[in-house]
Amino acid sequence: MKVSFQVYEGEPKSFSGDVLVVIVQQEQGPEQGLEQCLEQCLLSPALKGAVSHVRDCGDFLNKADQSVWLYPALLDWQGEKPYLAKRILLLAPATEDAGRNELRERLRLCGGTIASQLRQLRGEDILLLWPQGLPFSDVETAGQLVQGLALGSYTFQGYKKEQNGTDSEAGQSRRYAFFSGDAPLKELRKAIKQAQVSAQAVLSARDMGNQPANRWTPADFADYAEKLGTKKKLKTTILGKAEMQELGMEAILAVNQGSAQPPSLSIIEYRSAKKYPTVLLVGKGLTFDSGGISAKPAAGMEEMKFDMCGGAAVMAVMQALAELGFGGVNVVGMVPATENLSGSAAIKPGDVVRHFGGLHSEVVNTDAEGRLILGDAIAYGIATYAPDVVIDIATLTGAAVVGLGHHYTCLLANDDELAQRLLQAGEEAGEPLWRLPLGPAYRKQLESTVADIKNAGDRSGGTITAACYLQEFVGETPWAHLDIAGTAWNFTEKSYVPKGASGTGVRTLLCALANWSKSERN
Ligand code: BES
Ligand code: MN
Ligand code: ZN
Repeated sequence: MKVSFQVYEGEPKSFSGDVLVVIVQQEQGPEQGLEQCLEQCLLSPALKGAVSHVRDCGDFLNKADQSVWLYPALLDWQGEKPYLAKRILLLAPATEDAGRNELRERLRLCGGTIASQLRQLRGEDILLLWPQGLPFSDVETAGQLVQGLALGSYTFQGYKKEQNGTDSEAGQSRRYAFFSGDAPLKELRKAIKQAQVSAQAVLSARDMGNQPANRWTPADFADYAEKLGTKKKLKTTILGKAEMQELGMEAILAVNQGSAQPPSLSIIEYRSAKKYPTVLLVGKGLTFDSGGISAKPAAGMEEMKFDMCGGAAVMAVMQALAELGFGGVNVVGMVPATENLSGSAAIKPGDVVRHFGGLHSEVVNTDAEGRLILGDAIAYGIATYAPDVVIDIATLTGAAVVGLGHHYTCLLANDDELAQRLLQAGEEAGEPLWRLPLGPAYRKQLESTVADIKNAGDRSGGTITAACYLQEFVGETPWAHLDIAGTAWNFTEKSYVPKGASGTGVRTLLCALANWSKSERN
């Protein structure tokens, strides 16, 4: 579906498109707040009467995701100039008891609800009126609504005949216009554009994640990165198998050994100005994880096509950065990509591999492959780009799903300030994080009798020991690790987050980078 957004400077009453969406604030009691809200939304007496009727029937203003359809043509306008819109959709999200971040979330949810209501009809031209008097600006409100609308309009364009016909969703379009009211036009347009860019990045990440493993391979990551490299401010370098051999990245090569698809390591650099700090982002791009010789059980193994969602998130962030173009930070995005299969050349439990930089690892479990490829990438990234901070994002451990389920991403970090930045950004983006500890007591589980480290400990504290493994490669550099195994797919279902790949992490990282860039420039 094609979704576009613009600003509407006319009279809402004269809007003659398909749907006029009216969002009113749900006050303490519908009795007190409603009239005032309707007044603020410039609604006419006939419309107010209709809304009151719906409310008196008990059909409205009680639930966050509730909405009501009205048809202006069916109303008695009693001589008043009628609304020209074909339909009116009324919503009343609760806004009263919410802090700023919660309010952001409710507006995004509201956007998602609108998108799902509109899914059932043909309407293309839509005008939105939003509530006045929220604790933040119209500009901010519009940004959150755009995100909810854009993210909530997503469906994966799969491989079903009916999805590809002329009547399909893919062929449809939605043109959303925002009633400008008193909002400063230039800023409003800018906020809408930025929200759209960040939402579009999330949708790209979802698309990559939802593709089956035979249609999203390490080569597809490299191709995507090459295309990004043609954009302004971005530069792409691809390391293939030969370069990896030359550089001594034995771990990623080892994981790749059992697969017929060659590995790739995509590096995308976003440069603003030298004086600003450099953030290194590393995303796990395991396009399929069978476990290798330490095989996973068959049931549910198809889900391991999602094992590249961290890599997808990094690609998407780089894509958005090129379009947002903000200063204040430099960002290097790296996506090591391979399959983990059990072909006849596959690594075997007990094999020892040498990471880039010299650390030897005993591979006691070939299913703990994410840390192997991330280790090489992080070590190479630090050696090559000398970043001020490193953030990696990966569907790294089943233990993360056991520990926090599908609602929080696990955060582990060797630096409190960086952890705080990410926690804050996650709150703002509606992708909450929960920090877990690190420490030598956990690292002990990775002691090997034959090498510097082994790649898996016992079952206890699995998310933490995985992070301990990565920590071996960061040295003194401030570093944070996001384990998105529970949230990359089957994330808390919301009006703007569908089943399948969620695109989690993209907005959190963009938000953290944006906040960082602001603080650097002030
Ligand atoms: N990709 C998996 C982690 C995973 C499991 C993500 C389930 C989402 C759902 C990872 O490569 C893996 O297999 N980790 C192992 C590590 C273990 C062998 C130490 C795990 O979590 O079981
Ligand atoms: Mn695995
Ligand atoms: Zn994996």
